Amino acid sequence: MCGIIGHIGQNDCVSLLVDGLRRLEYRGYDSAGIAVVSKDKIEVRRCQGKLSQLEMLLAEQPVRGSVGIGHTRWATHGPPSDINAHPHKVGPIAVVHNGIIENYLTLKKELLEMGCEISSETDTEIVAQLINNEVKGGASFEEAVNKSLEQIEGSYALVILNEKEPDKLIAVRKESPLVLGLAADALLVASDIPAILGHTREVVFLDDGEVAILTENSFEVRGQDGTTREKEVAHVTWNPVMAEKAGYTHFMEKEIYEQPRAVIDTFRGRISESTGEVFLDDLNLEDKLIQSLDKIFIVACGTSYHAGLVGKFLLESLCGLPVEVELGSEFRYRDPIINSKTLQILISQSGETADTLAGLREGRKKGAFLLAIVNVVGSSLVRQSDGVLYTHAGPEIGVASTKAFTTQLVALYLLALYLGVKLGRLSLKESQEHILELVKLPKKMETSLDEDERIKAIAREYANARDFLYLGRGINYPIALEGALKLKEISYIHAEGYAAGEMKHGPIALIDEHMPVVAVVSKGLTFEKMLSNMEEVKARRGKIIAVCDDSEEELADKVDAYIQVPTTTPFLAPILFTIPMQLLAYHVAVFRGTDVDQPRNLAKSVTVE
Ligand code: AGP
Repeated sequence: MCGIIGHIGQNDCVSLLVDGLRRLEYRGYDSAGIAVVSKDKIEVRRCQGKLSQLEMLLAEQPVRGSVGIGHTRWATHGPPSDINAHPHKVGPIAVVHNGIIENYLTLKKELLEMGCEISSETDTEIVAQLINNEVKGGASFEEAVNKSLEQIEGSYALVILNEKEPDKLIAVRKESPLVLGLAADALLVASDIPAILGHTREVVFLDDGEVAILTENSFEVRGQDGTTREKEVAHVTWNPVMAEKAGYTHFMEKEIYEQPRAVIDTFRGRISESTGEVFLDDLNLEDKLIQSLDKIFIVACGTSYHAGLVGKFLLESLCGLPVEVELGSEFRYRDPIINSKTLQILISQSGETADTLAGLREGRKKGAFLLAIVNVVGSSLVRQSDGVLYTHAGPEIGVASTKAFTTQLVALYLLALYLGVKLGRLSLKESQEHILELVKLPKKMETSLDEDERIKAIAREYANARDFLYLGRGINYPIALEGALKLKEISYIHAEGYAAGEMKHGPIALIDEHMPVVAVVSKGLTFEKMLSNMEEVKARRGKIIAVCDDSEEELADKVDAYIQVPTTTPFLAPILFTIPMQLLAYHVAVFRGTDVDQPRNLAKSVTVE
């Protein structure tokens, strides 16, 4: 996601725009820019890098104006660079955008065929081109925007300037947030409240499909049908710091709650519910190579490694290829059996993890095709890989990875369907069935999130435990590992994830009345086995916290607490089971008073060995 801001008023707005972007940097920080109307011309200042780079540019090339827009970027299309930085100006039109234009490649092709000169790799420039074409064709500013909106698909929050009508700003919202700020001497519009709070607490939240026309001292909001909408003015009570976390106490909590949206953004534009097709544009994996593959090797670290362990189940079941999964730090020293028939997948949120990058270099040496599943556009992993499959989780600020993990699982699921169909292991009909389950997932994730209060109560009861054991089986065993990692890294409680079937081979010796055991219990193949594991624990006075799907009645008298998640297919169940794990770890850490977003000894990206 990105941060956008607009201002129209009586006074110079450059410092206000920059300050507003600083309060939105948590939404993205790989490049930034502003555009202001100065002496009836739009002046743009934009550059790659953090906001401080833009400030240096403005010091060298100052600009003044009372109508302007600004943007701080989280790249989704086109790596971070000056030319890909927003605002994008085409003719008299300047645009800043937060979201994903799904059909930008089709529109770009049409524009190029019309002879338009397109300078960037972004989807946003396409919007500026469309509006400019309409204005050139004689449409008014508002008409030009509306006609362009009819052509684009996807999610977008847009703020648009037109140097031919400099007394107006137009703001558009569709599935990406936008809020108006009604200040005494100006009107503002921004992605989020923090950018506005220093100037006014009177705000108007735009809803999907609405277009706002702002002038110096008035605004009008219209629906898609052009009718004027009456909008309520809300009074914001948050303090600025709270506002950056959208009212959540920690970034980690906010990012846990962003997961349904992040999952939608990750599969959006990549699936067809009607045909069962999966579209993965940037894979660069030719059919000939796909047909020649005889092995997949997944390399990752930490939470991303746990995603790879789930990916093994997805890829082996749906593609029929053998899959090995290895930690980056181990892979690089074990002389792995890899060749040109190996697809090596590197999973990383940051794209900068040293051990994972070393794994990439090992694979390069041995001739594998290197595919990155990564969240940060243009990161080292992307630049050194042969193909990329982006997660669209947006910036993940909390050190403990949450939305990056669940979107990695979605990316692996999409890849497994894509390769399964290519390899003839899956019919399009079967792929369609899997896709139809996937599109139901965000709602089920919301339901899992609704268990938060129940989980908080459980966390309060066990927050002083000295150790935790997490158990799972099959595709959910990695979720036991992930749950244990979440707890240990933010609460500092020792926690261990284990394959439940291994209990009698050692870990059962740990069980006593002081040992909480978190068990992932799925109604599938291993349900009965998990029940007996829990009875073994109960028989030794262990405490059981079951995370279960639709098995409440069988469990109620066998466990000390249970957390229910909705049922789904076995392939998607790990995503739903992950949410209670994240919330349990989060609440335990809060009760223990640790630094949830920046736990001791850890860093968000481990760029050293
Ligand atoms: C997970 O919560 C941790 N922050 C850590 O294990 C992390 O997953 C690991 O360092 C890998 O990071 P990456 O995904 O950016 O490569």
